[in-house]
Amino acid sequence: MPKKVATKISPVIGLQWGDEGKGKGVARIASTLSKSDLIVRFQGGNNAGHTIWHKSICYVFHLIPSGVFGKAKIHLGAGMVIDPWALKKESLVIPAGISFMSRLSVSPHAVLVLPSHQVLDSISEKTKGKNKIGSTGKGIGPAYESLPARTAVRVGDIGQKDFLVKYKKLRDMHGEILKRTYKYDIKKSDFKKLEHDFFEGIKFLSSLEMIKSSEIVESTLDRGNQVIAEGAQGSLLDVRFGHYPYVTSSHTVASGIGTGLGISPHLIGPSIGIMKAYVTKVGEGPFPTELGGKYSAVWCRDNKFQYEIDKYPHPSKDSSDDFEVGIALRRAGSEIGATTGRLRRTGWLDIPLLRQTIKINNAKELVMTKLDVLNGFSKIKVCTHYIVNGKRTDKVPFDLSKTEVKPVYVSFPVWKGKLAQHEGKLPKEAIAYVRFLEKTLGAKIVYVGTGPEDHQVVERYW
Ligand code: GDP
Ligand code: IMO
Ligand code: MG
Repeated sequence: MPKKVATKISPVIGLQWGDEGKGKGVARIASTLSKSDLIVRFQGGNNAGHTIWHKSICYVFHLIPSGVFGKAKIHLGAGMVIDPWALKKESLVIPAGISFMSRLSVSPHAVLVLPSHQVLDSISEKTKGKNKIGSTGKGIGPAYESLPARTAVRVGDIGQKDFLVKYKKLRDMHGEILKRTYKYDIKKSDFKKLEHDFFEGIKFLSSLEMIKSSEIVESTLDRGNQVIAEGAQGSLLDVRFGHYPYVTSSHTVASGIGTGLGISPHLIGPSIGIMKAYVTKVGEGPFPTELGGKYSAVWCRDNKFQYEIDKYPHPSKDSSDDFEVGIALRRAGSEIGATTGRLRRTGWLDIPLLRQTIKINNAKELVMTKLDVLNGFSKIKVCTHYIVNGKRTDKVPFDLSKTEVKPVYVSFPVWKGKLAQHEGKLPKEAIAYVRFLEKTLGAKIVYVGTGPEDHQVVERYW
C-alpha cells in the first residue's frame, strides 16, 4: 500500500500580546474535526486564559486545549509547564456528558509547576516593585527556568522511584532561595495546603494517558488526519522575540512548535494568525499605540475594574481625551484579564508590529476578532509607521522600551449601528477597514468576529 503523505500541523497563533481570541478560533476549528484529528498545546501553562462559549455558557480554559467540546483528541505537549492541581480543577468545570478524559493525553516531557515555583514567582515579582514584569503569578517563569537548570521535575517522573526525592530536592532548593534572597519563609504561604493540592493534582495527572508528543502528532499526520497546534500567549510575548524582559518564558511563535512537540520543523504548516481589531496588553512593558500612553499603563497597573467603573461610569467613545477613549474600548470589549482579572491596556492596531508577527509565524490566513467592539466609536485609527529620532520608519526598534517611538496613524470612519444587526454582512466601512488591513499586511482575513459566542462571526464573502 502506498504510504500516505503526511500533511502539516496547522498552528493557531496570537499575533499580538495575547488574548486575541485564540480559544474561540480553536473551538471553531474543533467543531469541524473528527475523532481521529488532534489538538495540541505546545507551550505555556495556566498563565493562558482561553475563553470559549459552548451552548451559550462561557468557559475559560487555562491548560485544557480549546477543542475540549469537539470530538478530536486533545494533548498537553512536551513544551508545556503543567500545574497538576490547576489541571484537575479545570477538568471539574467540564459538564458531565462531555467525554474528554479518554481523549486527553499528556507528554512525559512536560515540566511540572511545583507549589514552590508559584511562591517564587509571586514573591520575586513583589520585590521587583515598579520594575515588575506583571507576571500572572502562576509559577510559569520559575518552572521553565528549572529545565535548563536541569532541576525540573517532569510529568514522566511521576510514578518513578525517585519522584518524591526529586520533588523534595527542588522544593527545598526553592525554600533556601526564598529565605536567602527574599528573606521569605516558604511556610508562610499556606504551603501545606498548596502541597496537598499539588499531590491531589498528581493523582489526576497519573490517570491520563502519557504519550510522547512526537508520537501522537506524527501518527495522526501519517494517517492523513489534522493536527491543530493551539498557541498560548501572543507572539509579542515570545521570550526571545518579544519585548524582553516584558515577556513570558516560552517560545510563543510557530517555530516553538518544533521543540514544543519534538517534531521536525518541516511538519509545521502556515499559521492561522489571530488578531484583535485593536490591541490589548496585560502586564508591563512597551505599547507604542496605547490610548492614553504612559498614564494608561500606570492606571491599568494600579487600579481595579470596579474603581474604573465608579470613576468613569460612562466613558465617551468620541472623547478628545485618548485615555478616556481607551477606557471606552476596554469597557466595550470587556477587556479584563481572563486569568488575573487585571485591566487590559488598550490601543489601536500597530501595523509594524503585526507585519513582524505575521512574518515570523508564516501566517497566511488571519482571523480578526472583536470588530463589533468598535461599534459606536467615531473613528478607528491604525498606526502605519513610526517616527523614530525624527525619521519615518516601519521597522520596530530593538528595544522599544528605551526608544522614543511616535506612532503615525491613518483614520477610518466607523459604520452606523451594530455589526451584529447586519445579519452576516459587513457594512461598507467595515469592509474598507478589512481590505486596507489585508493589503497592508499581505495576508487574507478569512473571517471577522462580531461577538464572543461561537456563531458570532462573518465569513469572508466579498
Ligand atoms: P485568548 O487568550 O486568545 O483565547 O483570548 P481570551 O479568551 O483571553 O480573550 C478574548 C475575549 O474576547 C474573550 O472574552 C472572548 O469571549 C471574547 N471574544 C472573542 N472573539 C470575540 C468577538 O469577535 N467579539 C467580541 N465582542 N468578543 C470576542
Ligand atoms: P493567553 O494565552 C495575555 C503576560 C503577563 C505578563 C507576562 C509574563 O490568554 O493569550 P507570565 O505569567 O507568563 O510569566 O507573565 O506575560 N501573559 C499574558 N498576557 N494573555 C496571556 O495568555 C498571557 N500569559 C502571560 O500578563 O505581562
Ligand atoms: Mg487569554
